[in-house]
Amino acid sequence: MTKSLSSTGQQDFHRPSYHFLPAANWMNDPNGVIQWKGRYHLFYQYNPDGAYHANMHWGHAVSDDLARWQELPVAIAPTPDSPDQGGIFSGCVGNHDGRPVAVYTGVNDDYSVQTQCLALGNDELTEWRKHPRNPVVGEVPAHLGQRRDFRDPFVWRQDDQWYMALSAHIVGVGGAVLLYRSADLIDWEYLHPLYVGDRARHGRNFECANFFRLGEKWVLIISVQWDQAPTNTIYLVGRLEDLRFIPEREGVYDAGYSYASLMHFDESGRPLIYSWIREGREVDLQRAAGWSGVQAIPRVLSLDSQNRLLSQPVPEIEKLRRTRHRFAPSDIAPVDLPVRGLALDIEAEFDVSVADTCGIELAVAPDGEEKAAIVYERDTGTLRIDRHYRRGESEIDSAPQGLAHRPDAGDMLQLRILLDGSVLEVIADGRSRVTSRIYPSSADNRGVGLVAPTALRALDIWEMASIW
Ligand code: FRU
Repeated sequence: MTKSLSSTGQQDFHRPSYHFLPAANWMNDPNGVIQWKGRYHLFYQYNPDGAYHANMHWGHAVSDDLARWQELPVAIAPTPDSPDQGGIFSGCVGNHDGRPVAVYTGVNDDYSVQTQCLALGNDELTEWRKHPRNPVVGEVPAHLGQRRDFRDPFVWRQDDQWYMALSAHIVGVGGAVLLYRSADLIDWEYLHPLYVGDRARHGRNFECANFFRLGEKWVLIISVQWDQAPTNTIYLVGRLEDLRFIPEREGVYDAGYSYASLMHFDESGRPLIYSWIREGREVDLQRAAGWSGVQAIPRVLSLDSQNRLLSQPVPEIEKLRRTRHRFAPSDIAPVDLPVRGLALDIEAEFDVSVADTCGIELAVAPDGEEKAAIVYERDTGTLRIDRHYRRGESEIDSAPQGLAHRPDAGDMLQLRILLDGSVLEVIADGRSRVTSRIYPSSADNRGVGLVAPTALRALDIWEMASIW
């Protein structure tokens, strides 16, 4: 049996200090993200009973600035003897004629029946009344051949109608996003699949599909369950013809622990995206810590000239930056930098033509044995995260992570890295993303180092303030 950190009297240095997570217990997907009368509201999959996935409620947090969050009481709970008695699964909040309406998946006790339900909110979004006509979508289209994966409604307004994308799969074919239409969010008509994936290329099942317009293009972001590989998130960019999505390009949204992303347009029209960052340690360690799951720093989405999906942490978090450590290339002889910390925001630029590999090491132990290395490998064109721990793979995931990446012309690689306790968010050139989890064995593992210092062109490291 693992000893909990509190019983050892040690501070929980794995717990993030500037990412949102509830005071205790389990959290997964972001739900119902919306800016309502100026305030940002984040709902999320939450188990009030402990740090494990069960008994799903919608937890609730608010922010005035997207940097600091305040946790509020649970917003939506299961109702006995109703379509959501087994849990309130993921969904979103729509603004219907000035009233907030939560559209979510209600499940039965063993999750084998999944239906779409509504709850009407008060103006503070703190009290929610279940709609008497729940479920508003109860039947699964017969052509799916299954009814267990049918969830995560994402709604948007278009041509004076509501549209809803539902995530599912078609047996023997692959993941599917189903398209529905309604005038009032209550009476829904099933139209057809908006998009059907190919099982070999796009996995077994889709969850948490988001569909939205970005400039001239439509973007579909999907969380994918694979037959063998761990879950990940992908994106497709294309056009909408006869209410069917025709992809023109596709890519990985995040090659790591980021999952179940949910976007919305804020009141100024900015497309913002939130994501659940999963744990990378075994369930007993999660229970012992008393918390599980973190929200990624919200990001602003855009497309570049090649229609690749870019995402950058919202500029609002820069107000949490405190002491700045700036290094010019001429300063950098040593491999170990005179900076330490587990709550850092880093902007780095490397010239990848100078060395076979380059990058940054974080959470480095005083003896150098434990660390997380973010490395760019020129020959293979790979961005990797290598995690070195003393503890075994059975307790903590330390499998190498990575994805293909090539800087655009000029060989300059730009990295943005957010380190926060056990959370590591890495973005290369705004468009290649790997989210990681690291669990150093000691709070003393806070060193920062460089791989191939000669490749460095610019480096800023800020120590970050806690939001609590
Ligand atoms: C994704 C997901 C959703 C579901 C929710 C349940 O992580 O599996 O498909 O609605 O989590 O907590």
